[in-house]
Amino acid sequence: MKVFQHVTDLGDLSVALAEAQEVKRDRYQWQHLGRNKTALLIFFNNSLRTRLSTQKAAMNLGMNVIVLDVNQGAWKLETERGVIMDGDKSEHLLEAIPVMGSYCDVIGVRSFARFENRKDDYEEKILNQFIQYSGRPVFFMESATVHPLQAFADLITIEEHKNCARPKVVLTWAPHPRALPQAVPNSFAEWMLAADVDFVVTHPEGYELDPQFVGGARVEYDQMKAFEGADFIYAKNWSCPGVTRPEDYGKVLDDYHTMMDWCVSARQMAVTRDAAFMHCLPVRRNMIVTDDVIESPRSLVIPEAANREISAQVVLKRMLETL
Ligand code: CP
Repeated sequence: MKVFQHVTDLGDLSVALAEAQEVKRDRYQWQHLGRNKTALLIFFNNSLRTRLSTQKAAMNLGMNVIVLDVNQGAWKLETERGVIMDGDKSEHLLEAIPVMGSYCDVIGVRSFARFENRKDDYEEKILNQFIQYSGRPVFFMESATVHPLQAFADLITIEEHKNCARPKVVLTWAPHPRALPQAVPNSFAEWMLAADVDFVVTHPEGYELDPQFVGGARVEYDQMKAFEGADFIYAKNWSCPGVTRPEDYGKVLDDYHTMMDWCVSARQMAVTRDAAFMHCLPVRRNMIVTDDVIESPRSLVIPEAANREISAQVVLKRMLETL
């Protein structure tokens, strides 16, 4: 595997899910694969889970790991070509990327949407430069548009906890005081459409996800209707994807105080089929979800986060196998 960005990069999903369970049975059985190999994890943005789980997955495989927080100690990087670099940015990404590539065997990159320009974000301008110039396999640790390590962990979690062959999975928008990217809901939609689930998306009008990710998924604007009979509720906030009104890209469309009835609470969970609750974390309690729902026995947020180690290990293992 040279790039991990989309669900299709994993090939047959049932094979990938079986591999995830094999990793869970004994995560240290492939230490020979990572001997004398180095994973470089580059963070342009903050992280708790991705940083720790990916580092742990690499160590499980016997790899050395280098973590770089670009904004803490590295030179400030220019990302635009053609700029006269007379400002505060001392180094250009076009030199920094091949230099970083020379110190490692695989590279993971986290670089969120900047919300300056929809086209740049949706063309994955930063991550594609890593793919083009690093000379190394590149895996996305949340980019402008996708978070595949999260979506893979989410699918593993759903597979482990489902009580019927084809569960109903609902992705619900929830309020948030800040403008958040669409990477998590984009990837979750992409992965659910590839899996054997009954997938429904619910959000207020104006938050339609990009068709390249959400495809022909059923969209239900009435949250209560969407929740009826659900087996899994996946909550996440996202800002306006700008599909119908590009000028609204990255905006919070309404004052969140007026949207609080979208916060997932016992009221909505009561119409589900005793659904499990999921969120990628970090989560703002009593904005996205109430205390009682996230603390209930049906909350899967901790096993879901634990599965981030497993999804990362499957991806790193596959990259090491093809070096
Ligand atoms: N879910 C997730 O990616 O968490 P972090 O932002 O803490 O890495």
